[in-house]
Amino acid sequence: MMDRPITVAVAGCGSRGQDTYTKILLEMPDKAKIVAAADIDPEKLEGMKKLTGIADDACYASAEEMLAQPRLADVMLICTPDRCHYMQAKDALLKDYDLLLEKPISPFANQCSELSRIAQERGRKVAVCHVLRYTAFYQKIKELIDAGVIGDTVNVQAIEQVCYWHQAHSFVRGNWRNEGLSSCMILQKCCHDMDILLWLTGKRCRSVSSFGGLHLFRAETRRRAARRAASIARSPPIAPITPCNSIWTNTAAPGMTGRRTSWPSSRRRRS
Ligand SMILES: NC(=O)c1ccc[n+]([C@@H]2O[C@H](COP(=O)([O-])OP(=O)(O)OC[C@H]3O[C@@H](n4cnc5c(N)ncnc54)[C@H](O)[C@@H]3O)[C@@H](O)[C@H]2O)c1
Repeated sequence: MMDRPITVAVAGCGSRGQDTYTKILLEMPDKAKIVAAADIDPEKLEGMKKLTGIADDACYASAEEMLAQPRLADVMLICTPDRCHYMQAKDALLKDYDLLLEKPISPFANQCSELSRIAQERGRKVAVCHVLRYTAFYQKIKELIDAGVIGDTVNVQAIEQVCYWHQAHSFVRGNWRNEGLSSCMILQKCCHDMDILLWLTGKRCRSVSSFGGLHLFRAETRRRAARRAASIARSPPIAPITPCNSIWTNTAAPGMTGRRTSWPSSRRRRS
């Protein structure tokens, strides 16, 4: 236990770094103090300055620039896009930061192993953001399984629902649209499920299979959907169905009316 608040540097001030973790940390000033932030987007940095009150010279134009400084804090939150995690985490561990590291650690197993090895060698803590473990719901299930209340666990059936507008936004057109730029679906979305299953059962994984497709997001489906939307729109009072090419979710209730600027629209790519 430290007798002062833990100091924190935030790398990547988007949805997770700023909107989630920074806001949570600001609610516990006796435990944590944000002392530095980095983002390649000046608007995000401006947001961090307003939110946390950190000075201009504690803001960096990239995580790499922040990591080029001497160690600035006890902990670094690495909340940048998937493909940045490995190098930034490695550099941060070598600078003796403890880490809150966003998932997935890396799309490559050898990079995950390397980070694990460096963390152990340097005696650093790395908390990977498999956040479901910390929910009251899963903690209760874990407690019941461990206490044997439901008997032996021989089978788990679990479904994570990726809502249609989240899918259309983030995984078809958004930041996670291409696994070469981010990570594959089984890792990106289902790493939470894999983590939960391993944690709940205390077992190791023997094999994983993953398959999927973009059926709804092909041109022919779009034309059919547009025709259907047009015919429904002619019969009020039923709201028109949005053709899939415009499920871009800058709407209040995605695909419906109004405007939405928060998640997931806030993560819309800039092209
Ligand atoms: N644990 C969870 O449940 C959960 C949920 C959503 C996302 N994530 C993960 O969190 C990470 C961030 O996702 P997000 O939703 O916050 O995305 P985001 O796009 O909102 O935020 C990422 C931020 O990183 C910044 N950035 C990019 N390159 C940078 C660099 N070199 N240095 C500093 N900043 C840089 C971007 O400008 C952006 O502001 C992703 O890896 C994602 O997979 C985890």
